[in-house]
Amino acid sequence: MAHVRSLFFDGPLAEVEDKALKAVELGRPSEVIWNITNRCNLLCEHCYMAADGHAKPEQLTDEEAIAIVDQMVESGVPVLFMSGGEPMMRKNFWDILERARAGGMHVVISTNATMIDREAARRLKTLGVDWIATSLYGPPHFHDAMVRVPGTHAKVVEAIKVLREEGVGVALKSAVSKETLPYIPHIIAKAKELDCGLIYLCDLITSGRSAGEEDSRISVAQWKELAEVIVDDMLDPDVKLEYDIGALPSMIPYLAKRFEERGVDVSKGLERLKIMSACPVGKGHMNINSEGGIMPCQFAQDWVIGNIREMSLADAVRELYVFDQTDAKGWCSDAECEYSRICRGCRTKAFHEFGDPLGVDTTCILKSRDSATSEPVHTLDPSLSPASPCCAPGACG
Ligand SMILES: C[S@@+](CC[C@H](N)C(=O)[O-])C[C@H]1O[C@@H](n2cnc3c(N)ncnc32)[C@H](O)[C@@H]1O
Ligand code: SF4
Ligand code: SF4
Repeated sequence: MAHVRSLFFDGPLAEVEDKALKAVELGRPSEVIWNITNRCNLLCEHCYMAADGHAKPEQLTDEEAIAIVDQMVESGVPVLFMSGGEPMMRKNFWDILERARAGGMHVVISTNATMIDREAARRLKTLGVDWIATSLYGPPHFHDAMVRVPGTHAKVVEAIKVLREEGVGVALKSAVSKETLPYIPHIIAKAKELDCGLIYLCDLITSGRSAGEEDSRISVAQWKELAEVIVDDMLDPDVKLEYDIGALPSMIPYLAKRFEERGVDVSKGLERLKIMSACPVGKGHMNINSEGGIMPCQFAQDWVIGNIREMSLADAVRELYVFDQTDAKGWCSDAECEYSRICRGCRTKAFHEFGDPLGVDTTCILKSRDSATSEPVHTLDPSLSPASPCCAPGACG
């Protein structure tokens, strides 16, 4: 998670990020991602949660869920992400949301958007929800195949339109893999066309239904090509879109270098990154799953440090700060990387690859074996953008 525009320019998340930054400085939780249920009405082929129609047996009760919200408010959690599974499938979704908003937390709902109609959009607006973050993987045929439920793409696009009409901010999210890469230009174009304020591009995490799929990740050269798209958009005064990069923290120092080469002063952004690094593990960032398990990162559901039924948020934060105070290994260490403190490498990938969260992030685009020789390739096909005739409304795209 690293918001490029808010870091290096004037982005839409500057205010929320300032609050998270303050929380880090005070040693408090900075943001909590909470999978309030594992139930889902879709069956996405890449889902790291392996979510399906079933709730987990030890799911937090409604009373426990409300008590956790109260604890978050007391602990001064500035930002709560309600995620899942599909969070809107949880029966007391609205109660949790109302309580969180009444306590003054910023709330982002991470949802597949299939349950958002005009009434829900109005309710979200009334409750002062900042952002709805919804997933889009490509044009209709591709998106529906990925989520394995026909008609989903149409529902997502309709929900985005209704949300924007009601004045709710929308972020588009996509997992980036060899499969989705050809459609990333389509998704970026769609974000602009539908007036979404943010696009979240997350490197593929190989757990849940994606376990063992390391070969499906895109190459360093392909990430560098995406970086050029982002740099061009940031420097285009007509584009206001925010970009958020997930699970590839080394993209941030790489982008900083590219901006510098184009004459941008990145010093303020680099200073901020010393407090809140590109990988926020250990800096007050944490995940709670539907059974109360506490993890340093939502993408590592098997890296559990305790349970909210027995461990307070304050204790969890203290335990997590230890990761931040400990040097990572190999080329991610302070001795070997000038960016170690602002990047930190993806701790989840190290945990999955070596069973050691302080191990090397082998996907680093600055250090990995092919990085020195990998110039940006030019493989992205702009003809897949919705502006082309075959993607016009009602046509095949
Ligand atoms: C687990 S879902 C929960 C929220 C909601 N059901 C949704 O799909 O948007 C949260 C986000 O994680 C992303 N995601 C799921 N599996 C992933 C993986 N293996 N690698 C990267 N992102 C993944 C999804 O694309 C989605 O945007
Ligand atoms: S990615 Fe989201 S919508 Fe897809 S199966 Fe997982 S929880 Fe459900
Ligand atoms: S461990 Fe990886 S996926 Fe998790 S917050 Fe850090 S960079 Fe992101």
